[in-house]
Amino acid sequence: MLAAFIMAGGSGERFWPLSTKERPKQLLKLIDEDRSLIRMTVDRILPIIPADKIFIGTNAVQAEAIRMELPDLPYENIIVEPAFKDTAAAIGYGAVKIKEKLKDEKITMVVLASDHIIKNEDNFRKRILGAGEVAEETNSIITLGIKPNKPETGYGYIEVKEAYIGEPSKVIRFWEKPNLERAEEYVEAGNYLWNSGMFVMGIDMIMGSFEKYMPKHSKIFNAIAKLKEKNLEGEAESEELKTLFEKFQKISIDFGIMEKAKNIKVIPVDFGWNDVGSYPALDEVLEHNENGTVNRANELIEIGSKNNIIIGTKKIVATIGLEDLVVVETKDALLVCKKERAQDIKKVLKEIAERE
Ligand code: GDD
Ligand code: MG
Repeated sequence: MLAAFIMAGGSGERFWPLSTKERPKQLLKLIDEDRSLIRMTVDRILPIIPADKIFIGTNAVQAEAIRMELPDLPYENIIVEPAFKDTAAAIGYGAVKIKEKLKDEKITMVVLASDHIIKNEDNFRKRILGAGEVAEETNSIITLGIKPNKPETGYGYIEVKEAYIGEPSKVIRFWEKPNLERAEEYVEAGNYLWNSGMFVMGIDMIMGSFEKYMPKHSKIFNAIAKLKEKNLEGEAESEELKTLFEKFQKISIDFGIMEKAKNIKVIPVDFGWNDVGSYPALDEVLEHNENGTVNRANELIEIGSKNNIIIGTKKIVATIGLEDLVVVETKDALLVCKKERAQDIKKVLKEIAERE
């Protein structure tokens, strides 16, 4: 049986001022003007996994907004982590809760990010179903891999002998976020894929991997699983959960398990994946006007301007002689930034935090 676990605890700082802690990237209507990225993620998987088997992992700050966004999911399918401990803790805790809820020994977990764009959704579903079968038949962790086209250092790289679309291949090595020099080597070498951040594996398999490669996490998961047996009052149970959660080391599944596990397979896919990591990535997924500008303003006047990304509220926006800029206005803030410096938005957030 397939169950989806959608990771939705990230803050997506690079989309400030659109994104904030309470309204992170996955809640933004970045691509489709009617649907947030997390709504699109759920809609994309719904044709093959019913709502009662779709779970969201998030934290207390975002849970309410996520529930409002996904009213078709059962209330308890929004799994709330009491602390920000990254994806290893999120996935293991998700697995414990999914097992508790579905009470089925043979659950295959489809772990998805909440903030990716996928162009060919039919093909995506076909690959997920295929990955589910391979995970069950071979008792391995399946990850979906993307052919790299630039030495992006924000991704995991997967070394394989050969890669054919749709064909599972044994992972020789998994490197999470290499430095630029190494990323360049990998792209050059040609036998590396990007990790898309989507994993498919048996729930017992992943718990076994935690036991083997992350024994400290595993012990905490076991303690969490036993909490129910204690029959504590609601308040006391959440206090205990909080105390247990505090003990997790903050680390991602990629560093914690994927870099170490031996039984990983990758299925190369080509369904038009983009993780829209920052404003300039919108150039890859949104339409441009005749000036090469992505226009999300109510009304835009461009005089001798080109190749900008303009996201506005209700005002008329006019640009004169501007190129390669990102301009974003919300009710609280205005960002004007060169596309090539978009990664420095986190410096702005640091500055804001220091001033508060
Ligand atoms: N529930 C929960 N709790 N979700 C979390 C947490 C957490 O503490 N931290 C992050 N997430 C969610 C994010 O919202 C996102 O959907 C997903 O987990 C991945 O986290 P990111 O922080 O965006 O990871 P990344 O982009 O740096 O790297 C991962 O994704 C790349 C592809 O986009 C890795 O898996 C890389 O190997 C991969 O290439
Ligand atoms: Mg990401």
